[in-house]
Amino acid sequence: MTEQLTSSSDTDRQAVTVLGLGLMGQALAGAFLAAGHRTTVWNRSAAKAEELAAQGATLAATLRDAVAASPLVIVCVTDYPAVRALLDPVSADLVGRVVVNLTSGTSQQARETAEWAAQHGFSYLDGVILAIPSAIATDEAVLLYSGPRAAFDAHEQTLGSLGAATSHLGADHGLSALYDMAMLSLMWSVLNGFLHGAALLGTAQVDATTLAPFLTQGLHTMSGWLTATAAQIDAGAYPAEDSTLDVHLAAMAHLVEESEAVGVNAELPRLAQALAGRAVDEGRGGDDYAALIEQFRKPAPR
Ligand SMILES: NC(=O)c1ccc[n+]([C@@H]2O[C@H](COP(=O)([O-])OP(=O)(O)OC[C@H]3O[C@@H](n4cnc5c(N)ncnc54)[C@H](OP(=O)(O)O)[C@@H]3O)[C@@H](O)[C@H]2O)c1
Repeated sequence: MTEQLTSSSDTDRQAVTVLGLGLMGQALAGAFLAAGHRTTVWNRSAAKAEELAAQGATLAATLRDAVAASPLVIVCVTDYPAVRALLDPVSADLVGRVVVNLTSGTSQQARETAEWAAQHGFSYLDGVILAIPSAIATDEAVLLYSGPRAAFDAHEQTLGSLGAATSHLGADHGLSALYDMAMLSLMWSVLNGFLHGAALLGTAQVDATTLAPFLTQGLHTMSGWLTATAAQIDAGAYPAEDSTLDVHLAAMAHLVEESEAVGVNAELPRLAQALAGRAVDEGRGGDDYAALIEQFRKPAPR
């Protein structure tokens, strides 16, 4: 009972170690400090720890000391090879701790690192940060984790210091990277569409600032389409409710023609046209746009 009371009242002040103090690592460590956690930091180039030390973080003299200081070890470095180079020499010291890797990478790298962690006998969560450093610890920061649920549950409150939206996606370590990839795919598709549109309007001396509110409104409408599209994808049936793929394909031809006629880059609409064209060739012309999922599920033909 005493033990229970002690551990629950101490939860807010759980010690945490942050390895890697680049732009993101500094924001993470700063958020833990601001939330009242005993925060130990370490960076390959020690100078980057000075500001955090001035704010109250403990600057570990060695990497081993940094790992030993906390049951929860956060890693945020450039890439997965850097993660392994960093953690390999202290793998034995990590046993009994939970390592949370917030470095960006692929699902395969996440799963391989999880296997490596299992071989060395320490608990591992892979995570992604859908935010920029200045958004850490605000309502805008979304952080996603995958790996053993028990490890997440044990540290959920501490991890909650990094952002309002903190979710555990499942036991498969690759899930957080895959969600990250899906968000990146959406982000670049939307931004490329806007840039292509701005280039088109630029040929008529309309500036991007004038175009932006119009397309923002369109984006808001389109965001409502995702749920219905998802339902069709999951059902594997694509009845056209508003327009068929044939109609989309005809409009894509206009977009390619327009782009070429005014001399802007037509690669983006040509890609859309190629995907839809193949779906129509496979007999999907009368279906909803969601039928294109079949094109995305397989590699592009060479
Ligand atoms: N910045 C963002 O907006 C953002 C958003 C989401 C996710 N992320 C992800 O967060 C991770 C870090 O990004 P960042 O913006 O903080 O990058 P950064 O400012 O370039 O910092 C990179 C960090 O990695 C360390 N590092 C690199 N190689 C290392 C090695 N072999 N051994 C030990 N430490 C090594 C660097 O140490 P030194 O200081 O000694 O060079 C530095 O602390 C990346 O995976 C990035 O994709 C960043």
